[in-house]
Amino acid sequence: MSLLQTDGGTSFTILAHEVASQIDVHKEWGGVVPMLAKREHMNNLPLMLEKINPENVDLIAVTYGPGLEPALWTGILFAKDLAKRWGVPLVPTDHMAGHIYSSLLKSDEPNIYYLAPITYPGIALLISGGHTELVLMKSPSEFEVIGNTRDDAVGECFDKCARMMGLPYPGGPEIGKLASKWDVAKHSQFGITLPRPMIHSKDLDFSFSGLKTAVLYLIRERTDGNKRELSEDEKIAISYELEQAITEVLVKKVGDAVDKYEARSLLVGGGVIASKSIRDGLTSAFGDKIELHLPDKRFVTDNATMIGIAGYLRSRNESNILQPDSPNLEALCAKGNLSIYK
Ligand code: KG4
Ligand code: ZN
Repeated sequence: MSLLQTDGGTSFTILAHEVASQIDVHKEWGGVVPMLAKREHMNNLPLMLEKINPENVDLIAVTYGPGLEPALWTGILFAKDLAKRWGVPLVPTDHMAGHIYSSLLKSDEPNIYYLAPITYPGIALLISGGHTELVLMKSPSEFEVIGNTRDDAVGECFDKCARMMGLPYPGGPEIGKLASKWDVAKHSQFGITLPRPMIHSKDLDFSFSGLKTAVLYLIRERTDGNKRELSEDEKIAISYELEQAITEVLVKKVGDAVDKYEARSLLVGGGVIASKSIRDGLTSAFGDKIELHLPDKRFVTDNATMIGIAGYLRSRNESNILQPDSPNLEALCAKGNLSIYK
């Protein structure tokens, strides 16, 4: 839940920014369970309301996708009901647009943020549990997906590989913690190498399911068909190599996209950019060459502030706003796909 005050331009004061983490609920199951996500949303949304004075609200932004249907609909119906009750308009907002704008939020004072301007053309790399996308931003209103994963998302690959090593959900941070213990003298002896899928392909697409399978076979081989546990050092060596493989693929594909479109800025969003290896890899490859926007820690994993910002920007085009008495929320949501970035 987030409550934002704007000056009508691109400056925002964050009045409330809260993330009701569901990690503990899903951890037990090793991944996100859609119906549990829905139940948690239903429990958390009314609690959040107690903190808001409706008189101060002029616009409600709500995520309509992409994401897990049961959880999304809980949020959409709740927001629709509030819009009616409070008599304020609603702006259905794209989750990935939120991740893009999260990278642009800069601050000089606590809770006061402004949106950094982008030098066009820009490339956005979106890396989360459900997405691995490259988006070309030609202008503020022209966005085009130019690369996508053909199978698993990068975060999903981290989560599944972590699970195979017996690590808790979400796997990305666990793998990051283990990888940070890498010591060449101690761990290179394991001789662990993993593929860099599609690194030399001529397109801008990704594929991570082969990498996941390679980790599966590697673990089977090292544990004599799962007869023994991996040692802590083996886990460190696998985690490090996995992070390296993923970082190299992402850096290479972003480089290809930057060259192809002569991009002058790079924006990165999504939970996976919490990875130190990926952050450092992208910073050293592009930090001196083009304008690089990485999100502040606060806005890396899913949060409502990024949706509020994306929704507010979208609402500046009146045709994207839904009046509280309008019956066609579904129709507006269905307008989806890329136009949502406008
Ligand atoms: O954007 P996000 O919070 O939710 C989705 O929209 O999916 O991203 C969640 C993903 C999970 O797959 C999680 O493992 C990954 O982000 N993640 C990380 C790290 N922190 C979170 N992956 C790698 N390194 C991290 N430190
Ligand atoms: Zn996300």
